[in-house]
Amino acid sequence: MIFSLTVKESVISELSCSDEYISGEALAEKLGVSRNTIWKAVKSLREEGFDIDASPNRGYRILKKPYIITEAGIRKFLPHDDNRRLYILDSVDSTNNYAKELARNGEPGGTVVISDMQTAGKGRMGRSFCSPPKSNIYMSIILRPEIDIESSQLITSCVAAAAASAIDTICGTDTQIKWVNDLFLNGKKICGILTEASVSFESGTLDFAVVGIGINIRSVANVFPKELLKTATSIQDETEKLFDRSEIIAEVITSVEKYLNELPDRKFLEEYKKRSFIIGKRVIVTKAGEEREAIAAGISENAGLEVIYDDGQKEALNSGEARILPT
Ligand code: BTN
Repeated sequence: MIFSLTVKESVISELSCSDEYISGEALAEKLGVSRNTIWKAVKSLREEGFDIDASPNRGYRILKKPYIITEAGIRKFLPHDDNRRLYILDSVDSTNNYAKELARNGEPGGTVVISDMQTAGKGRMGRSFCSPPKSNIYMSIILRPEIDIESSQLITSCVAAAAASAIDTICGTDTQIKWVNDLFLNGKKICGILTEASVSFESGTLDFAVVGIGINIRSVANVFPKELLKTATSIQDETEKLFDRSEIIAEVITSVEKYLNELPDRKFLEEYKKRSFIIGKRVIVTKAGEEREAIAAGISENAGLEVIYDDGQKEALNSGEARILPT
């Protein structure tokens, strides 16, 4: 299932990383193929609709950057010395499943699995995550942090703050967090985060965690089912701009690494609280299959949701779900 680049994909990847013309000769040399192979690849790409200009003296240049994710496209936005492994897939059941399998087989922390689409994208609480192709970001990062199990429960909230910050940096948005793992723009969900972990009961530490991040980038208005559109949106629908998925992926990777390094100091909590979308709102808390109405009062030092139930009882929730009631 690993996506190994064909000559056509490599040509697209090379041209996408350059704003200048690249000669057929230079491309042929770089990719280790003949100039004729490059010419055929470009011809076929043009037939597929890629807007590639061919100038007899200068070579090839892509006029409109394609909306595909490539390793080179992501690395362009990562620090030069970042040598983590990136698995770029065209389709997979779930990037979390793929990353967990890699992690079980000893894949190092930092590795990222990205897929153009998911056939069985997973959300929290056994729900599915709608994952159409050529639109959004579906990525899972393998983590091997040396932290105890209690601190590992903060990973999802820490990544939520990191992803929100990354999205805002690239898109100029004002992303908010709905406890515990949803990112919202203008009152609707644009991103979900699902962390799955493998724990060593003997040492009481984390073997590995896989944090899966799904971000709706391209318009979902004509793609998602009507029911889902009541609560979900995309960055394009909210900003009327289509952002480069590769640039956002790279920013999320960099941001997650930075925030997780600071997780033991819980530095992210201040930002998490500032971005919180739920404080002061009436919510329905679902816990152990039971529903109760409450006011969301604050975020605890463990990133739990502090609620006050209608009978005055207070609780800090570290699991479960809180659904915001319409006002
Ligand atoms: C949620 O909203 O409940 C969490 C959604 C998490 C979706 C991401 S997409 C990448 C990764 N792979 C999955 O199957 N799920 C996560």
